[in-house]
Amino acid sequence: MVSVIFPAAGQGRRMGLGFNKIFTELAGKPILIQTLLTFSRCDCIDELVIAVDVNEMDIIKKVLGRMPGLKPYKIVAGGSERQYSVYNGLMAVSPEADIVLVHDAARPLISERVIQNVVDEVMLSGSAVCAVPVKDTTAVIDEMGFIEKVPDRDKLWAIQTPQGFRKEILAQAHQKAQEDDFLGTDEASIVRRTGRSVKLVMGDYDNIKITTPTDLFMAEMLFSHKAAKHVKIKMSSLISDILGKVQK
Ligand code: CTP
Ligand code: MG
Repeated sequence: MVSVIFPAAGQGRRMGLGFNKIFTELAGKPILIQTLLTFSRCDCIDELVIAVDVNEMDIIKKVLGRMPGLKPYKIVAGGSERQYSVYNGLMAVSPEADIVLVHDAARPLISERVIQNVVDEVMLSGSAVCAVPVKDTTAVIDEMGFIEKVPDRDKLWAIQTPQGFRKEILAQAHQKAQEDDFLGTDEASIVRRTGRSVKLVMGDYDNIKITTPTDLFMAEMLFSHKAAKHVKIKMSSLISDILGKVQK
């Protein structure tokens, strides 16, 4: 059985809306709902566990109650940090679950294909974290803002969610993080601290985390692009006209 924990208890501060960004409208529905619906369309997913701000629990219960097409779900209280929200979710996961995925509620553009690939890899390796190769050159800088070194881009990947694990692996990682008072930014970082290796699977450049208003504009475009199935990408007619004339 595969359960998915959705940390959704953030404040959305960088979004600057004055309310939790997961309530923002995206293609006609709240971001949280778009995320849950995509997972609900996956045959490999059995249960959704959503960690929410206690003050938002009632509204989220009502919204989910009105939404057809969701897989069986549980709503739990989130914590003051993302990691604590995930932990609370983990405590509520069904005892029958042997695989647990964690996915940011604020990543509504996740595809069913990537979800399936993560689940398949967890079955093989015990862990699977989706990621994409970094496109920009990245730099490590010193305190004065000067470039200290430029890591080899071929070895750099940007980590996304979902991140999936055999349940006992994730449970052990949370236990150790708690014992050591360690706060990580994602599940991979706390699992690696237990000495286990974590396998990467190819994510998707579309799978952005809605963090700032610009991300929301991009998400709207990507959603309508997906609905249209194929938006033809073509050379600018200005260029092709000139090339056509040159070629003649
Ligand atoms: N999250 C959570 N509990 C927290 C903090 C974050 O469940 N205490 C969730 C968010 O709701 C989001 C995901 O973790 O779905 C990723 O976090 P982030 O993008 O940082 O969202 P926010 O914390 O809401 O945004 P910000 O950091 O700008 O305030
Ligand atoms: Mg945050």
